[in-house]
Amino acid sequence: MTVTSGSKRFEKLRERDINKEVFVSELPDLGLIVMDSPTDPKPSLRISAGKVVEMDERRESEFDAIDRFIAKHAINLEQAEEAMAMGSLEIARMLVDINVPQRRVMDVFSGLTPAMIAEVMSHLNVVEMMMAMQKMRQRKMPADQAHVTNWKENPALLAADAAEAGLRGFAEEETTVRVARMAPFSALSLLVGSQVGRPGVMTQISCEEALNLRLAMKGLATYAETLSVYGTIPSFLDGDDTPWSKGILASAYASRGIKSRFTSGSGSEALMGYGLGWSMLYLEIRCILMVKGAGSQGVQNGSISCIALPESLPNGVRGVLAENLVAAALGLEVAAGNDAMSSHSQMRKTAKLMLQLLPGTDFVTSGHSVMPRKDNLFGGGNFDAEDMDDWLVIQRDMQVNGGLKPVREADVLRVREKGAKAIQAVFRDMGFPEITNEEVAAAITAFSSDDMPDRNSVEDLAAADAFLESDKTALDVVAALARSGFEDVAESVLEMQRQRVLGDYLHTSAVFDKDFNVLSAVNTPNDYEGPGTGYRVEGETWDAIRALPQALDPLALVEGEAPDPNLSLDPVGQAAEGTSPEVVVALGPAFGSVMNQTLADLSHADVLRAILDGIEGEGVPWRVVKVWHGADVADIGLSGARLSGSGIGIGLQSKGTALIHKKGLAPLNNLELLSMAPNLTLESYRALGRNAACYAVGRAPSPVPMKVDNMARLRLIVHTTLLHHREVRQIDENRGIEELKVTFP
Ligand code: 5AD
Ligand code: CA
Repeated sequence: MTVTSGSKRFEKLRERDINKEVFVSELPDLGLIVMDSPTDPKPSLRISAGKVVEMDERRESEFDAIDRFIAKHAINLEQAEEAMAMGSLEIARMLVDINVPQRRVMDVFSGLTPAMIAEVMSHLNVVEMMMAMQKMRQRKMPADQAHVTNWKENPALLAADAAEAGLRGFAEEETTVRVARMAPFSALSLLVGSQVGRPGVMTQISCEEALNLRLAMKGLATYAETLSVYGTIPSFLDGDDTPWSKGILASAYASRGIKSRFTSGSGSEALMGYGLGWSMLYLEIRCILMVKGAGSQGVQNGSISCIALPESLPNGVRGVLAENLVAAALGLEVAAGNDAMSSHSQMRKTAKLMLQLLPGTDFVTSGHSVMPRKDNLFGGGNFDAEDMDDWLVIQRDMQVNGGLKPVREADVLRVREKGAKAIQAVFRDMGFPEITNEEVAAAITAFSSDDMPDRNSVEDLAAADAFLESDKTALDVVAALARSGFEDVAESVLEMQRQRVLGDYLHTSAVFDKDFNVLSAVNTPNDYEGPGTGYRVEGETWDAIRALPQALDPLALVEGEAPDPNLSLDPVGQAAEGTSPEVVVALGPAFGSVMNQTLADLSHADVLRAILDGIEGEGVPWRVVKVWHGADVADIGLSGARLSGSGIGIGLQSKGTALIHKKGLAPLNNLELLSMAPNLTLESYRALGRNAACYAVGRAPSPVPMKVDNMARLRLIVHTTLLHHREVRQIDENRGIEELKVTFP
């Protein structure tokens, strides 16, 4: 036989989301290799007269500018000799070993060269990296960062979304612009809205670096994240930068009391054409060491915008976790990526997320979109507004804190309204183009910016320009809020300015709680040392995470219903054994009394009527009895069969499961079973009655047709459990089996 066509299963596979992705094999020459490139240098370090004279097989004279920067600023020479003398395998084991404290590992890492760090990572599988991340994360409590933007750049919608993000638990919120000149208004809307959602949320705007710094200096942003570094010199030159210029920029932020972190991540160099044969991880380690050398408190890495490139290669997701881990092990705050679209496949996206969400990072994502994807001006988000509930359920499933907590719709609407009204008041007071009541109303309930009226963008941009050029600052915003009845918001915005003078939040991994207490690696360090230590999801946090608003109250579901008015079942004494052909229909203890319908929402009256109709249609007499001693459907059915003159009985549980049983058979060996109660129709019950009657008089029935619904059990198992519990609660072992007089009033 010859095969004349392809496999129909492969045809389906080709259509799957996962096969919309592009996969390539490794090509080190082009930098298309995630870890362990054959041309990666081997670890080495020579120090002479307090100076690095050889690093990773290159002598000082062969150093490029990145090597020079790292050798001079990023390697702790006091630790280096001892650390470099250790085996990379030994260091890898220290990372995983719960008996080696975080501080000790950080000391060792502080003395390692880039190639040595890469070699350490090569020993670890992803589970070991996750264990290590759990220990090396700098802040004790993990958190998450939000992306807040919208296509129309509507300030009322921005403020409402920022307020919602604060309520949902995000510790930081980031915005960006479609039209660069909108930056001052977007930064302002984000700042005001965020403080409505939760005082102490930090905000930033991602825009051109000089503008970014100006906005921060005006007090319109509290942190910055746009300082990119690259692992090869030509990539740096493309961005008109050097490690030193980035270091100076970082110092500029710090000197104005503005928290900042760098951005880097696997794949950027290869993407720009300058991978130079080195592995993505080795280059990223160079980046992380530059961040450290520049004196920054942290980095957002994890490939960030380049994520699809390492993911096209073997090892890609593992390598990205490795780079998060290296940053943490070097004592840096880590915003761990998961912000840019990482897959067409939901399964792959979630699998990747688990590597950061389960161990916890300082920020599980570098930006988690609180709006729908089309409004995400960061080029579409990896996780969007529509994914919020999935995230919350995963946290509850695993008892992990991914930085978010469940919210109620009414609370969301309330903070959105206040956020939109606060920015409306600021615009009015400061003489900016009006935000109308219509815009405020739309912003409160909007799904996306499609639901927003258009604004006059020419006017907005002119006003934004003038605001930027004016000497107006966040303090004018504070005054405007205070004058308009938003004293509490004014206070938060003012407090944010005061914190910049205090500067405590410049410490590694700092975030604020709602009372503006700093939580950082300094005052709340991650002290994980194995089970029973470190951050645990418990107490109020666990109470909040487990209390999903959509969770049902089981007690309400097990409470009884009123008896069915269309059915009366009156006991007429103990049931006797029959002697002539008949079908005995045996009911569960709750039938028609504390329950009145099946899982398929069929009334007990209708179901019983259908069964009896089916029996009568075959000209066979019936009796109905109630079994009190048990709730198991086989037991109920067999009890009926034993009383039946024909030996044929039907067992019917109150939730609708039914079967035909025969005297003399083993309990679990029935004649026909309708087990999928939720899928049964009245016609199924009629057919069951018909078939039982046929068995009773010796005719051959055809089996009852069944509808298959694979999701029924998933959908209804909770209801099944609780309804069955109701039946079980009605059991009365001493009541025997009662004959019932059935009427359908
Ligand atoms: N390396 C360096 N910078 C990056 N960015 C994103 N991904 C990377 C990376 N892998 C920076 C770019 C981009 C912004 C979102 O972050 O500057 O514009
Ligand atoms: Ca970010």
